[in-house]
Amino acid sequence: MKLVFATHNQHKLKEIQALLPKNIQLLSLTDIGCEEDIPETAPTIEGNAILKAKYVAERYGYDVFADDTGLEVDALNGAPGVFSARYAGQQKSDTDNLALLLSNMKGVQNRKAQFRTVIALSLDGALHTFEGIARGSITEAPIGGNGFGYDPAFLPEGYTQTFAQISADEKNRISHRGKTFEQLLRFLKERARNAS
Ligand code: IMP
Repeated sequence: MKLVFATHNQHKLKEIQALLPKNIQLLSLTDIGCEEDIPETAPTIEGNAILKAKYVAERYGYDVFADDTGLEVDALNGAPGVFSARYAGQQKSDTDNLALLLSNMKGVQNRKAQFRTVIALSLDGALHTFEGIARGSITEAPIGGNGFGYDPAFLPEGYTQTFAQISADEKNRISHRGKTFEQLLRFLKERARNAS
């Protein structure tokens, strides 16, 4: 069975392929010739994941899954949320986004926040969604050099180090994305078991 992961990132693709049942061949957007920018115009994280999955299913005719992630900060009424990638502007700069977040959180007492990932899976014409959350808080200043995006400002609950200080393996175990992919994999493995 062929399954598209709506990403151009070969590293992400390999990582997930290694975890999938052997009968599933994972394809990237590049593999299916989808080079255009898929519109991400929905007002919610789940909406954008669904938009991406439906776009590929309808135009390319594949079974497909797409992920979308946002950082939701309590004191900012859930911002940057669905706008996490373009918080500081359309240039989608991780450095600018992080700087704007910390500036908007200057002097704010309530620093609670969460990362939320949604995966939308379009399989045999049916749509399934999976969600994973990592709770934590926003630091006063960036700490750590690992990871990407808002990682240097995110202190996961129960930890004394930010996402940018812990290893990639450890982050995967506790992160929003890790938890969401775990659910997707469980679902696909269960289906593969039932089909055999
Ligand atoms: P995407 O949906 O994976 O493209 O992520 C949307 C935005 O959230 C981008 O600006 C990312 O940099 C940021 N982001 C997503 N996942 C993480 C994460 O695990 N750590 C830090 N930032 C993230």
